[in-house]
Amino acid sequence: MIDASQEDLLNDFATYVSPQKVNMYRLMGVDIVPGRREGVRVWDWEGKRSWIDCRSAGGVFNLGHRPPVVIEALKRGLEETDVGDHLLASGYRARLAKRMAELTPGDLQYTTFGASGGEAIDFALKLARGYTGKKGVISAVKGYHGHTGLALAATDQYSEKFGPLAPGFRRAPFGDFEALASMVDDDTAAVIMETIPATAGFPIPPDDWYPCIRQLCDERGVILILDEVQAGLGRTGRLWAFDEWGAVPDILVLGKGMSAAVYPLSSATYRQHLQSFFDADAFAHLSSAGGSDLACLTCLAMLDEVTKPGFLDHVRAMGDRFAAGFEALREKHPGILKRWNQRGLMIGVVMANQECGPRMVRALAKRGVISIFAGYNPEILQLMPPLIIQPDEVDEVLDALDGALGEVGQRLGQGAVSRSKHAQQT
Ligand SMILES: Cc1ncc(COP(=O)(O)O)c(C=O)c1O
Repeated sequence: MIDASQEDLLNDFATYVSPQKVNMYRLMGVDIVPGRREGVRVWDWEGKRSWIDCRSAGGVFNLGHRPPVVIEALKRGLEETDVGDHLLASGYRARLAKRMAELTPGDLQYTTFGASGGEAIDFALKLARGYTGKKGVISAVKGYHGHTGLALAATDQYSEKFGPLAPGFRRAPFGDFEALASMVDDDTAAVIMETIPATAGFPIPPDDWYPCIRQLCDERGVILILDEVQAGLGRTGRLWAFDEWGAVPDILVLGKGMSAAVYPLSSATYRQHLQSFFDADAFAHLSSAGGSDLACLTCLAMLDEVTKPGFLDHVRAMGDRFAAGFEALREKHPGILKRWNQRGLMIGVVMANQECGPRMVRALAKRGVISIFAGYNPEILQLMPPLIIQPDEVDEVLDALDGALGEVGQRLGQGAVSRSKHAQQT
């Protein structure tokens, strides 16, 4: 470990990385430098306090921090290989791409790898435009796909400061099929959606949303790209979030959890026919760091874990435990906890107003839980614990939520009701 105090390192961070971020960390009560980390927990630099990580960096830590089987795979990898040469064939990339084809439905067959989610989204949009010869892209109002070129153009408010962006991008309200359908024209190359939009607080679309989009894309020759950078790899209690709607995308984008917490990796897995785009130029898209041999090895170890019998049952069971806890918390704190969006361990707790999110993040940090509010909808608290979270740890988070809701409710003049008082009201 670096020999320095947490305060010194925070000061260095402010001086040499970002004073603005450090100010925000202080405001949110997360002005820590993570030190030791294991499973669902993170300790401060000096090992004095610990937190349950209910952010998981948006899914990077699906298997928790420093998952032993993945670390073993990486260590073995370091004995035999390195990042590899991206222009040559790679046995590791071949095996991982084959596994992705086996794990995905329909004729999703080929995979191109990247190092970040944004890079894989950029590739997916390039492929859609290259294959169709069209320019138009429809993404969601309050959608988020990353901060790189085309991904940024498909992202909603975060892109506003950086115009002019790539032309041809438009936004449809998430869940409103008629509105989306009315935007599709003869120059539409792609519709891109986060299957469950993260930065909007995990709204669940109507049942016919994806089946209707799938049919529309088939009829109009439009490529359907689903971004499961956060929602994929078991997060929702299914391996792929889109499985719930039975509509298979033309291109499936993954990131975050693909790294298995130790080595950056992202991917775009696409249907067989799209590969013909590369007939003219096999090297039309390149990435020196994407799909490195070491990353592929760690990812294969991660996939072995999330596909083990019982793994997804566990995710669903822990999701149900949270839901039961939220029912009780809503009874106790009806003025502040309104409802929740949830699939498995992808949870958005909808609260009374926009002040609640930032206040809850701070109140939870005080009580040993790291969380975040939805960037586009600050009244929604996002909870994405590692998928390996255990029942007693779920209860610890629920206890912290109880205390935090009480504190925030009181500040906002929405104190908790005792059970008997609530019984009289209802
Ligand atoms: C849904 C979604 N797509 C894409 C990205 C971009 O991933 P990255 O930050 O690895 O570029 C993110 C990042 O948060 C995301 O949440």
